[in-house]
Amino acid sequence: MGLLTGDALLPVAMAMAVFLLLVDLMYRRQRWAARYPPGPMPWPGLGNLLQLDFRNMLECCRKLRGRFGDVFSLQLVWKPVVVLNGLAAVREALVSHSEDTADRPPMPIYEHLGIGQRSQGVILAHYGPTWRELRRFSVSTLRNFGLGKKSLEQWVTEEATCLCAAFAAHDGHPFSPNALLNKAVCNVISSLVYGRRFEYEDPLLGRLLGLLEDTVKEDSGIVPQVLNAVPILLRIPGLPGKVFPKQKAFMDLLDELLTEHRSTWDPAQPPRDLTDTFLAEVEKAKGSPESSFSDENLRLVVADLFSAGMVTTSTTLAWALLLMILHPDVQRHVQQEIDEVIGQGRRPEMGDQARMPFTNAVIHEVQRFADIAPLGFPHMTSRDTEVQGFLIPKGTTLIPNLSSVLKDETVWEKPLQFYPGHFLDSEGRFVKQEAFMPFSAGRRTCLGEPLARMELFLFFTCLLQRFSFSVPEGQPRPSDYAPFGALVSPSPYQLCTQHR
Ligand code: HEM
Ligand SMILES: *[C@@H]1O[C@H](CO)[C@@H](O)[C@H](O)[C@H]1NC(C)=O
Repeated sequence: MGLLTGDALLPVAMAMAVFLLLVDLMYRRQRWAARYPPGPMPWPGLGNLLQLDFRNMLECCRKLRGRFGDVFSLQLVWKPVVVLNGLAAVREALVSHSEDTADRPPMPIYEHLGIGQRSQGVILAHYGPTWRELRRFSVSTLRNFGLGKKSLEQWVTEEATCLCAAFAAHDGHPFSPNALLNKAVCNVISSLVYGRRFEYEDPLLGRLLGLLEDTVKEDSGIVPQVLNAVPILLRIPGLPGKVFPKQKAFMDLLDELLTEHRSTWDPAQPPRDLTDTFLAEVEKAKGSPESSFSDENLRLVVADLFSAGMVTTSTTLAWALLLMILHPDVQRHVQQEIDEVIGQGRRPEMGDQARMPFTNAVIHEVQRFADIAPLGFPHMTSRDTEVQGFLIPKGTTLIPNLSSVLKDETVWEKPLQFYPGHFLDSEGRFVKQEAFMPFSAGRRTCLGEPLARMELFLFFTCLLQRFSFSVPEGQPRPSDYAPFGALVSPSPYQLCTQHR
């Protein structure tokens, strides 16, 4: 047959190639817009995928910033991406133009978990009515939690007491604090969502934490990037379940807990927790089809709170303790302040924070230095937007480089060192810094910030009120270096606890 001979194949192949090039050109029209941010030239069909070294993104992006400036563009297959570096660019995009930059890019890799038109949860939701309604609900539930009943602060304080007891049980022997910190922080989210905590030995808590950690791993690397950029691959039957088995298992476990919780719900009683409050909204919303209060959104909001509120907070606490054993002088100064303001007779409370500028500065500096969400979470423009004189068309993914703000040399005195003085004036008073953006900024800023602050302050001060921490004798001093990346814990370390 003539069709199969080399002679005929050539024109067919050429026609295909021309067709693909045309499709490609269509997708990169954006780049020809006047004043589009500069960036490396994308390859047809692949964009800059092959030009990026995914194993050494840090070095790779440093070079790009050096070559193209603070605002540069990339193309991941057909997806246009703009990276923002430094306080000025990030603030202009996220704060000054917050209305235009508050959307999220589509992330088809999560669709198999039940994310769709009407069910989007909070984190991944498009900038629109669903997001607004669910965000408002989450913020107000966090604020009003336990009015008249056990407040969130009481839950956190009690958890801190359990954590101290578990630390004390190590009896001065060296141990790695990470597992206990994870459990304590997980219990805080569980208190908020399900109105209950788990004993640290409970296998269910272990399972929940294991799955959470695994989902973080599944989300990183190049495979999810490629699948998001070429979502048609996700249509391959069974593929999402194969590539992201833990996400699915994590959702299944949350569903189990929700079902159990629902069976004990009594609408006549005041709500025990966020789930009850949400269920009441679902009842109220019956009959109004536009409402976002649905069973599908309940499970997504719950999943969002666990996945956004857990590893972030516990990783920060792991950094806090590491930095205390590396900087004993800072640790002693915090303890001195605790002794003066709180003493040993009662537990710390949020009301103490305003009178503890040094401790407050230390916690801020821990967050700045630890830099655990260096690239924040991607945004997308919902309109044509101008940033630093560049034109960013509607539908462009924005990556705010929070790390470049937290370590901006034009702002911080010692950007690469742990130096609580960044947040203190010459009189020892606490000073706010605009470039302190570990929670991001603008409309999409972390909605859990008040809870995260409460946890960081109460856990940290409770632990330092009771213990002194040190590098175990005979062990080498652990490093405070961590590779650039999302939610990177400090390299494994052990500490010694000494009763005070
Ligand atoms: C130290 C702890 C934490 C850090 C560093 C942190 C950081 C962040 C960052 C960088 C974002 C992305 C904001 C953006 O898109 O621009 C975010 C979003 C979010 N965080 Fe946190 N977070 C922390 C704790 C928490 C906690 C405890 C909760 C829940 C109780 C929480 C819930 C959320 C939610 C729901 C979003 C999505 C907001 C939206 O899309 O509108 N976070 N967080
Ligand atoms: C983000 O900023 C850090 C610190 O300035 C830099 O090392 C890194 O390469 C930047 N990443 C990107 C994606 O621009």
